[in-house]
Amino acid sequence: MAKTISFHLQKGGVGKTTISGTLACQSALDGYVTLLIDVDPQGNASSWFLQDAPSFELADVIQGKCYSSDAIVAVPHIPNLFMLPTFGIGGSLKTYSETKLAEEPFVLQDLIKELSKSYERIILDLSPGLGRLERAALISSDEIISPMTPEVFSLDGLEIFIEELAKLKKNLRSNVEHSRIIINSFDNRIKQHRDIYLAACEGKFTVYKIPVDPLFRKAQEAGSAPQLFKNRGKGLKQSTLDSLHTLNSEIWR
Ligand SMILES: Nc1ncnc2c1ncn2[C@@H]1O[C@H](COP(=O)(O)OP(=O)(O)OP(=O)(O)O)[C@@H](O)[C@H]1O
Ligand SMILES: [Mg+2]
Repeated sequence: MAKTISFHLQKGGVGKTTISGTLACQSALDGYVTLLIDVDPQGNASSWFLQDAPSFELADVIQGKCYSSDAIVAVPHIPNLFMLPTFGIGGSLKTYSETKLAEEPFVLQDLIKELSKSYERIILDLSPGLGRLERAALISSDEIISPMTPEVFSLDGLEIFIEELAKLKKNLRSNVEHSRIIINSFDNRIKQHRDIYLAACEGKFTVYKIPVDPLFRKAQEAGSAPQLFKNRGKGLKQSTLDSLHTLNSEIWR
């Protein structure tokens, strides 16, 4: 059975897609058959990895309009990486989550349980917020890892998330693990970043850092895995590679 990890915090723009996509690539490049599920109606992960619009999407699978095998596509140029996409344009997933999901809160959980027999590792990219769709995805996961940016309001955002998650776990009888956070876009030269890192370490969480690295955005623009992409001959910074290595070696245990 695959381990399923969601990267989530309700705040927008903290690196959920960047981290879930990059770690999905790492897992696949390490030889694990990995499935990245785009649970974000914006469809950012799908437009990052898929140039051509696939025939079906996640919303079609959960509505029974096609089989998961009809919708899952192999990501070009990244062996072992598969994707269950969401089209940003059209909004089927958004419409479904606003209209029908309330009647079927476990639909994603059932789908992921089924898929976890065929894949070794599953990663979910979620949208910001804590609505029905995000809640359904969170309770479908074995573990939630929260990315945050080193900003003043991030620790508040984490507090709120912890509270909301506790309620969700109680109400839906879930025992999803939430014990790691990632301070993303970290710059060691900035005192505020160091202070936020130290404050985060005071809690009960294992805290990781991912440095600010412009190559992530360039790889996304080029539709490539950051680990394989070179801009003017240069790839990810060594410090970025080191932090990805640490994360990747610990989160799948
Ligand atoms: N470590 C990093 N260094 C530099 N840029 C980064 C880093 N992580 C993310 N970014 C950039 O920050 C922007 C926001 O990242 P991303 O889209 O992953 O956030 P998100 O949390 O998924 O956003 P949303 O809430 O809209 O889904 C993107 O342009 C991405 O390339
Ligand atoms: Mg995103």
